[in-house]
Amino acid sequence: MIKSFIDACNNQIDGIKVTYDHMMWIWFSFVDKEGKHYFYRTNVWTIATELMKLIQPWFLGYGLMTFVSHDAVMAHAVFVMAIATMSLSIIFGWRASQNRELFIGQSVRTLDHIINKRFFEKELGLHIEENELLCQSSMEKGRERAEKINHAAIFMGVETAITLVVTFTILVFLKPVAGLIILMTLIVSVLFSLYMNNEVMTKADPIEKEYRAIVRRRNELWHNVERVLSNGKGEAEVKDLDRRFDIMLNREDGDRDVWLGYINHTPTREFANLVGTAAVVYYVGWQTFHGTATQSEFLSVYSWAGAVMIQVRLFARIERELAFCIPAVKRMRQALDLPKRVVDAPDAIELPDDLVEVTFESVSHNYKGGNNVLEKVSMTIGRGKSVALIGPSGAGKSTIVRLIQRYMDPVDGRILVNGIDLRKIKLASWQRLIAYIPQKPQIMDGTLRDNLLYGLSADEKMAWDDERLWAFVRRFRVDFGSRLNKGLDTQVGKHGVELSGGEAQRVMIASAAIRNARLYIIDEATSSLDAESQAAVQDALYELLASGASALFIAHRLSTISRCDDFVVLQQAALAKQLGVPQVEAVASSQHQLSDISPTFRRLAELEGITVAA
Ligand SMILES: Nc1ncnc2c1ncn2[C@@H]1O[C@H](COP(=O)(O)OP(=O)(O)OP(=O)(O)O)[C@@H](O)[C@H]1O
Ligand SMILES: [Mg+2]
Repeated sequence: MIKSFIDACNNQIDGIKVTYDHMMWIWFSFVDKEGKHYFYRTNVWTIATELMKLIQPWFLGYGLMTFVSHDAVMAHAVFVMAIATMSLSIIFGWRASQNRELFIGQSVRTLDHIINKRFFEKELGLHIEENELLCQSSMEKGRERAEKINHAAIFMGVETAITLVVTFTILVFLKPVAGLIILMTLIVSVLFSLYMNNEVMTKADPIEKEYRAIVRRRNELWHNVERVLSNGKGEAEVKDLDRRFDIMLNREDGDRDVWLGYINHTPTREFANLVGTAAVVYYVGWQTFHGTATQSEFLSVYSWAGAVMIQVRLFARIERELAFCIPAVKRMRQALDLPKRVVDAPDAIELPDDLVEVTFESVSHNYKGGNNVLEKVSMTIGRGKSVALIGPSGAGKSTIVRLIQRYMDPVDGRILVNGIDLRKIKLASWQRLIAYIPQKPQIMDGTLRDNLLYGLSADEKMAWDDERLWAFVRRFRVDFGSRLNKGLDTQVGKHGVELSGGEAQRVMIASAAIRNARLYIIDEATSSLDAESQAAVQDALYELLASGASALFIAHRLSTISRCDDFVVLQQAALAKQLGVPQVEAVASSQHQLSDISPTFRRLAELEGITVAA
């Protein structure tokens, strides 16, 4: 019995520790120096305001006594004092509100700044294996809830605490016994809060998880709205989301259970408060009745005891808000606290802006400790060479692209840039030399010009006036005719929704080309172009490579890589293992040579009806 009571207490203390820990995290992460300044000033003004307010019942009581004793001079003096202190409380309150507003504005800004900064610092979108944790919905929700905690708990909570402490201190000073009774009521209230906090925290976590899953699903449906509608699934999806919501709401220990359970407990606390207040009023009333307390003391204690109880009730509301918000904040915190996906070694070197050679030395890689998707892969992208990487779907081509850009490090083997292990190179200096054209265009809302110049610094952008920009991008067929009603200032819409697939691809290619990189990584980037545009874009790309840049072309269609210098054929690691052959099926410096040694290449060539000339 005693042991289970101690265990229960320990659990509750743990729950409080977690809440405290998250609040401190928010405070230290999101309240900057300026915010703290406003915060402290607000508190000083709040204390002053409360003091002025709390003195009012005393004036009222004393004023009444002057009426009874017909002391006109004192009655007027008290009246003037009451008006003066009330005026001061208005002025102090106004100053407190000003600082509170400044604090809120500042903390929202800091909150946004930190989230944005950490997102890119930790390259959260590129933690390939933590997708569930890093989904947009958990970040958005965590952000919104952190803001709420910041306002409700840290801010309102501190304000409530100040009022409570000031009122309580005056009460103890004036009537110690009344103070003691109130203290006991407060203890009951705090114990109750600890209990409820722990209850809700443990039960709300799984609900929160389910809710996040629903939001994630909804976001995905909105993003893929075309697929939903073209399959006639609109209504069915609404129903399905309703169903999931209903389950979350109504199951045992679901949303309703938890919050109704919480609400059903609140009358207990309210009654404890009522008993406490009643005892204080009775005690001071009794004293007044017997002449050991004045009427003014009675009125003051009566109103202060009421004020303490109001603050206790406010605390309960804040505590509910905390219990409601903390799980989402916890989740966002886990995401933001993820380590950087790759970290520069302490002695990492800066790569000079020079031509590059990339070598894979027996590189193996897998995801989440599963089977290797790359098995001892060796290949070279020579200096100034364009290399075609050919292979069936799932062979690991995009994995190679990710490894080159160091989204992650290989589990085995080495990747060398100009003979230096990639892990010993400052990532930023390597990224500066690469232009990557992903398979799926990543167009951003804004103008055509914004998208074309995206990869350049503000200074570099200055060098691209409209004439030069047109001359350059026209080669990549970024002249979409009448579609560009405002020329380079034409809006492209969110995710480039106002562009066709091929137009978006051409913008991406031109945008990468403008960067004047040393290594181009081109992942199936011309797949949506018609034959004529494709040929033009290919010409422009090869012209670009004439500067000595290297390139890695990934292609399913052989026609797009006929002009490459070298060819690497990759097969699936599992198949290679089964056949007992290396995963890199063939390396050759001409398609003709390749057709001699690579069955995969011959199969593809045959399927495309391509005859390889000797
Ligand atoms: N984030 C990931 N987590 C787990 N497995 C992954 C992940 N990304 C890729 N894989 C798996 O690794 C293998 C190689 O994938 P990869 O994307 O590199 O293939 P690919 O050669 O680019 O294929 P495609 O031609 O279809 O684009 C596949 O079996 C794929 O399912
Ligand atoms: Mg791929």
